[in-house]
Parts: sequence; structure tokens; C-alpha cells
Amino acid sequence: MTRTIEVALIGQAFMGRAHSNAWRQVRKFFDLPLQPGLHTVAGRDEESLAAFADRQGWGRATTRWRDIAADDEIGLVDVSTPNHVHREMAVAMLEAGKHVACEKPLAGTLADARAMRDAARRSKARTFVWFNYRRCPAIGLAWQLMREKRIGRVYHVRATYLQSWGGPDTPLLWRFQKKHAGSGAHGDLNAHIVDLARFLVGEEIVEVHGAVERTFVKERVIPGTRKKGRSNVDDSVAFLASFKGGATASFEATRLAGGHLNDNTIEINGEHGSLRWNLENLNELWFYDGTVSPREDGWRRIVATRGGEHPYADAWWPDGHISGYEHTFTNQVADILRVLARRKPLYPVPDFADAYETQRVLEAALVSARERCAVKLSEVR
Ligand SMILES: NC(=O)c1ccc[n+]([C@@H]2O[C@H](COP(=O)([O-])OP(=O)(O)OC[C@H]3O[C@@H](n4cnc5c(N)ncnc54)[C@H](O)[C@@H]3O)[C@@H](O)[C@H]2O)c1
Repeated sequence: MTRTIEVALIGQAFMGRAHSNAWRQVRKFFDLPLQPGLHTVAGRDEESLAAFADRQGWGRATTRWRDIAADDEIGLVDVSTPNHVHREMAVAMLEAGKHVACEKPLAGTLADARAMRDAARRSKARTFVWFNYRRCPAIGLAWQLMREKRIGRVYHVRATYLQSWGGPDTPLLWRFQKKHAGSGAHGDLNAHIVDLARFLVGEEIVEVHGAVERTFVKERVIPGTRKKGRSNVDDSVAFLASFKGGATASFEATRLAGGHLNDNTIEINGEHGSLRWNLENLNELWFYDGTVSPREDGWRRIVATRGGEHPYADAWWPDGHISGYEHTFTNQVADILRVLARRKPLYPVPDFADAYETQRVLEAALVSARERCAVKLSEVR
């Protein structure tokens, strides 16, 4: 019989829905040595919580997330709440011996992220961070090609994460308040592309050379009122950096790029070729193989959906029957369960120590923007 690990989820909104779907679906598609039980969901909104639990398939619902720590039946806790509570929740669950899968960024501040990394070090439990874009099949293929040295030495990494929903009409959500989010587009979007870049290149960033941070919309309507409150996080942050091996990198995140809904793009240029990927066409990996004859020289579009060839493809649909946003979470759940069953994931799942390295890069960029100087990562601890 397949073993079961009971899971509890904290948070019942956007990520709460995405993760519920993944925990529920995984057993229907993946043959795994361990399967999840949807034990408990914890949320703040008592009125909608029971209906959420019922619809998403959770066995129990509670408004007291701390009770989860004392429940011996629960083996893993999924933290899907705003950034400022990640630390409190994750540390409490680790101290209770539970495995923790926490949303990104690891925390709103470097100090919180460090405390989480240290709690993970002290615990025997495993930690995971939902950098789910690593689990797009085309990104998995890019990772394989990078490991096979198909583009050789890396020269440039160019990554942009552009969204457009953060204009002046968008109310003062938690994402626009430093005390809840830590930063704005930076921690939200640059976190993803810094993680992707570190993951694909397989090296650490050693220096941030310069960063620009801007808050264009300084006041927003407080939800449920007519009053305005201060938005004190960045709307956009751009920065330049270097990898350990010398590759240059540029990162740009904004929520004010009109026309770009969820435009997460990364391109890597190396001595033998290049790779390019964009979330809005997430099944496609563009590969430029610089070793072919000049007659056939050009970008190749690979639709990474072939069974037996491309990551996760065997679990899903016939070749070319594409996957989408939700599959990235289910693929990540499959790899989390593999790790917990002491099997190898398809490729590395970030843990708290890994996500802390991304957080250090984000912090270096903020310091660079504030002090108008270059910042070595060795100075950010
Ligand atoms: N991986 C991704 O692609 C992705 C996408 C969006 C958000 N996120 C991350 O997921 C996390 C949650 O974001 P979201 O978009 O789901 O936010 P959201 O506002 O949609 O949902 C947050 C949920 O947390 C609950 N909550 C807040 N404080 C709580 C508390 N003290 N106790 C219990 N519940 C509490 C809220 O009631 C709500 O249900 C953030 O860290 C965010 O950065 C990741």
C-alpha cells in the first residue's frame, strides 16, 4: 500500500487554491511512493473557510493555525500566507517536527529569512520553497541542457519579470505595504527570476553592481474605505550583477509594464549557444545551438511535452497536449513527495538554505539602490 503523509495548509486565497489543487491532483497523475492526505486548512476568514475546505477537499478547517503544530497526525505544513508571517509559522512548525513547504519569497526581510534557514538547520524535518517555475517542463529541459554543457561557458543572463496590474487604481493590498510584503515587485517578481537564474546557471551571484528602485504610485485606496494610505514598497527594481564564473546578469521586475500580464522571461547566452524561455508560452524552450553549420544557423523552438523525453511529460497528457500554470505546482508536489520518500526528485527542489541565497541577492540589490553603490554578496549575511 502507498504510504500517506497528512498535509495542513495555511492560507485560503490565491496560493491556497493553487496548492490545494496540486495536493489533490498529484495522486491522480503521478505514481509515487508517498501520497498526500488533505488533512486541515487554516485560514482567517471563518465565514468562507468551511466552504473553501469543502470545495478544495480538506478534511478539517480551523481559524487557529497554531493548533496544527500540536496535531501529531500532520506531517507537512504548507505556508501560503503573506510574507511577514512566513517566519512565525514556518519556525513554529519546524520546532514541532513538521516538514514545511513555504511560499516565496522565503520572507519579507533578510533577518526573517535567516531565522528560517537557521530553524531548518536545527530541525530534522525537510523544507521546501514554492519557486514553482523551476517545475515548468521547458525550464527542466533548459536545466538538463545546461548541465550537459550544451551552451558551454555562460556569458550573459538577461531576466525580466513584467506585470501591469499595479497601477494607481489598484488598492492598498498587503503587497504594497512594507510591513507585510518586505518589498514590492522586487521580492515578489525578482525573487522568481533570481531563483531561476541561480538554478539554471548552477552558480551563485557574487556581486550586485548597481540597482534602481522606484515607487511611482505613492498612495492607494485602503480596501473597503474611501481613504488613501501610503504605498511604501517599490513598484519596480532593476539591477546588474555578476555570477561567480564571471557571467553578467541583469534583472528587472515591475508591476507597471503596460501590456505585460505575467511576462517572466529569461535568456542565457553562452559560448556554444543560447536558451530563452517565457512564462506566457511556458511549454516552449528556445534553443540556439551555435555548433550547427551556418546554413542551418538559427533559433529552434522545442515544445517540451514529449513523453519519455521531457521532464514530467509522462505523468500528464499525450505529446503536445500542453501543460499550464497549475501543473507547475503539481509537479513540485510530486518532487516534494519524492524527497520525503528518500527518492531523487527530477531535479533540485529549493529548500530554506537555497532560498536564503536568493534572499541575499535581493537584499544586496536593495542596499545597492539605497546607497548607490556596488555590493559584494560576501558583505550580505
Ligand atoms: N509561487 C507563485 O507563483 C506565487 C504567486 C502568488 C503569490 N505567491 C506567494 O504566496 C504567498 C501568499 O500570496 P497570495 O497571493 O496567496 O496572497 P493572498 O492575499 O491571495 O492570500 C493570503 C492568505 O493568507 C491568509 N492570511 C494572512 N495572514 C494570516 C494569518 N496571520 N493567519 C492565517 N492566515 C493568514 C489570508 O487570509 C489569505 O487567505 C506570498 O508569500 C506570495 O509572495 C507565490
